[in-house]
Amino acid sequence: MSDTLTPTAERQASLHWSDALVLALDFMDDTHKEFVDLLAQTETAEDAELLERFTALIDHTDDHFGREDRWMEDTQFSSSNCHSTQHNVVLQVMREGLRRGREDNDLPLVRELARELGIWFPQHAQSMDAALALHLRRVGYDAETGVVHQPDALPEGQIHGCGGATCS
Ligand SMILES: [Fe+2]
Ligand SMILES: [Fe+2]
Repeated sequence: MSDTLTPTAERQASLHWSDALVLALDFMDDTHKEFVDLLAQTETAEDAELLERFTALIDHTDDHFGREDRWMEDTQFSSSNCHSTQHNVVLQVMREGLRRGREDNDLPLVRELARELGIWFPQHAQSMDAALALHLRRVGYDAETGVVHQPDALPEGQIHGCGGATCS
């Protein structure tokens, strides 16, 4: 496929790092900055590099979501909680997009997905990730060791929602 399929003018990052995305939890914010950067690299890629960059974004996202899922498991979330479920769905959609990009050379689909991720991410970060950050701070979670320093702050039962006010 030729590079002329997607006009260069459209190859702009739709999402930029800003204070609105800061959750004041360094180990989460650092990963989110990397996500925004890899997404921008995907959106601005020439067609020849698009799938390689999208693959790098998926690998990073797999790791990013996997870590958040582990923090949730360490702090009383059920494995079927809605935040982890959303991670699974998003990763599945990304992988399906990559498959279509590779097998059908459907690069416009991959670009469309990247644009949608730029819309989805701030919503996810400001709701589910923000609720998780608050929860982790409240229970004194150490992401390095997995130790919960304030176990008394953990709820009695398992958490099935995302832990936020909008999702219980
Ligand atoms: Fe996240
Ligand atoms: Fe998340």
